[in-house]
Order: sequence, then structure tokens, then C-alpha cells
Amino acid sequence: MSQGLGPRPATARKSADLRGIVRVPGDKSISHRALMLGGLAAGETRITGLLEGADVIATAKAMQAMGARIRKEADGWRVDGTGNGALLAPEAPLDFGNAGIGCRLVMGLAGVYDFETTFIGDASLAKRPMARVLDPLRAMGVQVKAAVGDRLPATLRGPKTPTPISYRVPLASAQVKSAVLLAGLNAPGITSVTEPVMTRDHTERMLRGFGAALSVETDVEGVRTIRLEGRGRLAGQSIDVPGDPSSAAFPLVAALIVPGSDIIIENVLMNPARTGLILTLQDMGADIEVLNARSSGGEDVADLKVRHSELKGVKVPVERAPSMIDEYPVLAIAAAFAEGATTMNGLEELRVKESDRLSAVAEGLKLNGVDCEEAKSSLVVRGRPGGKGLGNASGERVETHLDHRIAMSFLVMGLASEHPVTVDDTTMIATSFPGFTELMTGLGARIE
Ligand code: S3P
Repeated sequence: MSQGLGPRPATARKSADLRGIVRVPGDKSISHRALMLGGLAAGETRITGLLEGADVIATAKAMQAMGARIRKEADGWRVDGTGNGALLAPEAPLDFGNAGIGCRLVMGLAGVYDFETTFIGDASLAKRPMARVLDPLRAMGVQVKAAVGDRLPATLRGPKTPTPISYRVPLASAQVKSAVLLAGLNAPGITSVTEPVMTRDHTERMLRGFGAALSVETDVEGVRTIRLEGRGRLAGQSIDVPGDPSSAAFPLVAALIVPGSDIIIENVLMNPARTGLILTLQDMGADIEVLNARSSGGEDVADLKVRHSELKGVKVPVERAPSMIDEYPVLAIAAAFAEGATTMNGLEELRVKESDRLSAVAEGLKLNGVDCEEAKSSLVVRGRPGGKGLGNASGERVETHLDHRIAMSFLVMGLASEHPVTVDDTTMIATSFPGFTELMTGLGARIE
């Protein structure tokens, strides 16, 4: 984050072929969950490959404030958990900075305890809707005091005994599903969550790994019901966090749009609930080879070989949205260099991410000469192969609205545009992808 230094703009310029072998930082979703479950489980959890971004560190601090011992050692992170049901009341508000995941999941994890927990965050997080998590927690008996519209700051107090619930998630959200399951860890009996559309399943996988009694049933229509028995014992684990596919997306799209590029991104998480962008880019004609597909710690992992490709526009299947929800900004950049139109529908959730990503992307594209149309929940981008005329010769800056993925997406755009692309701030990139600029310049990208 900014560490009080103020915004740091950056400019990306047309680059020669990108080449090299890289590894991106650990998966953000898995990193948060590893610290939460490690902090809760009895005994020692060891974590290698943890994303050491500002968002994840905020979760580590929150778990420490509730009694977990967490420290970085030479060979990774070591967590000594409190034991399930034994979190301590934090003495001060828990500050989650920019992180929706940390905040919403810990609301579930700690909100059901019979003590007060106050949640705060930065200007972006304070605008994001929390009712989606607070409503099911209320049904479990949690009292909530929150700012207007169920926004942060919010103070939660659980009952003496939380009520286990059966909850049908009204929107496709892994955060909501996870918050209810984590709350269920401290409720006697079975908490069940039904999700009509499958979202990332790292919470279910990891809960099982830590020894929770959990079952998943999928009906013929693909509706999943997860049942968790509360108040069981969780035991510390060893977790090796694979590279984040949502971070790999940036060098990946950069290599596709910069002529002559040929790169390898190693050790990328390939959980099928996370690979929507790769499938969509392949539909667009992208040359992405999946190498060394393997399993690591209960998750699929592979290396990706990516070469510059002539892309063509596609209509992205709307049911694919949950598996690529964080990748639409950078997909829009790929679309800006594709032949024809790319249509993206079902994007209403993009309006409540770290920024209103739909309008932030559309504004940035227009500022840089891309023909696009934004509607309530859709975006159409008409590309220009070769990037002729794209970019902003007068140096006008894309507004990033405290959103790391908006900053990285537009820096990728500048690498293949005729004119430079400038973003107003890069400090937020550290929330999810510390070392982004260095990794990209190491491949040959011109970013300064
Ligand atoms: C996440 C779920 C998604 C995603 C976010 C991480 C998670 O959010 O956008 O970056 O780790 O569970 P929603 O559940 O709000 O869709």
C-alpha cells in the first residue's frame, strides 16, 4: 500500500518481444485461507509460497490479534493456531486495508464468537457491500452495528451459541459461501451452504485438509451443497501455495499482445474454478500450452507457455464468469488487440469489486482510444490488432480508483499500444502482486 508516500503513477510503452521464465506470487485466495485455518487449527501449520502482499498481511495481523502466533522463518511461514473455538477477543479494530476476502471471511470466522469484533478498511473497502455476509450471520444469531447500507466500519457480536443454518447463496460468491462455512465451524451441528453456480472451492478443499467433517453433493443441474459439522477439531497442516492465476493473467496477456513474445509462467494454480480466462483466451485463438500438469497439495498446478497470438473477438459464455471474475479487466485489454468484437455479459459483480471495475475499465479503454460500450452488466470491446492508434499520446492518466487490477491491466495495455499508457497510481499493486513491475521489466516490458 502507499505507506503514506502518496500515489505513484507509471507509464508503459510499446515493448519488443517479451521473453523469459517467471513465477508469479502465491495465490491470494489460498494464502488468506491458509492463514485463517492455520491460525484456528490446533498445532503447527507451515506455509510455503505465501503471497506476501498487503492484503494477506492484514489477515495475518487479524489472526495474530485473535491469539494465533504467526511468523516468517527462513523456509516459509509458521503458524501456531488457537484450536477451533478458541479465538480470543481482539483488543482493537481489525483493519483489512483493501481486502474484501480477508474482511468478509474473518467476519464469518470471528463474528459468531461471543465477543465484539470491529472491522475497518480503506476507502475502497468501506464502499463495498457487506450485507451479503452480514445477513446469513444475523440468521446465526450475530448482532451487527454497521455504517449505513451495511458498510464498514462494522462491529459484530456473536451469541452464546450460534445457530447452524442452511443457506442458499443468492449470488455467485465464494466469499459469501466461505464466510458461512467458517462461521459454521463454531456452531453446533450441521451448517449447510447451497450454491447454484460453482465458485472457487478452496475453502472446502482446505477445510477437509485440516480435518473438518465436510461433504459436498452436486445435483444433476450442477447445484452444490456443502455440509459442515461444526465444533470439530482442526489440525495444523503443511501448505504449499501455488502461483496465483489471477496474477499470471498479466504477463500472460502481455505475451499474447506483444509481437514476438514467448514466455513460460511456472507453477500456476489450475483449479478448474479459476481457469476461465485461459479457456476464453484459447477460444480467441491464444497460443497457451499447458505443461507439466500435476497435483500439489490437493490443487491442480501447471506451467504455461505463452506465445504472441493473433486474437479474434468472442462472446464470452456468461456461465464462465465465476471462474474468471477477477480477470475481466485484463481480458478487456486482450480484446482491445483482437480482430472484431468481444462481448462480456453477466458482469454486475464487477461493479462492487475493489472499484467499479466495469466503469473503470470502460473509462480507461476510451481514454486510450479503444472503441467500447459499457452497459449495466456488460461490456463490448472492438479491438485493433497491432494496437495502431491505441494509447494516449498526451499522457492523460487512467484513474485506478485504488484498484490493483485496473493498474496492472492498463500497464499491460501500454506494452502493445502505439502510444504510451499512463496510470495515476501503482501503489495498490502491492496488495496482490508485489514485484509486478520488476517481473514485467525482467521479461522486457518498458514500464517506468
Ligand atoms: C474470492 C472470491 C471472489 C474474488 C475475490 C476472491 C475468494 O469474490 O473476486 O478476489 O477468495 O473467495 P466474490 O466471492 O465476491 O465473487
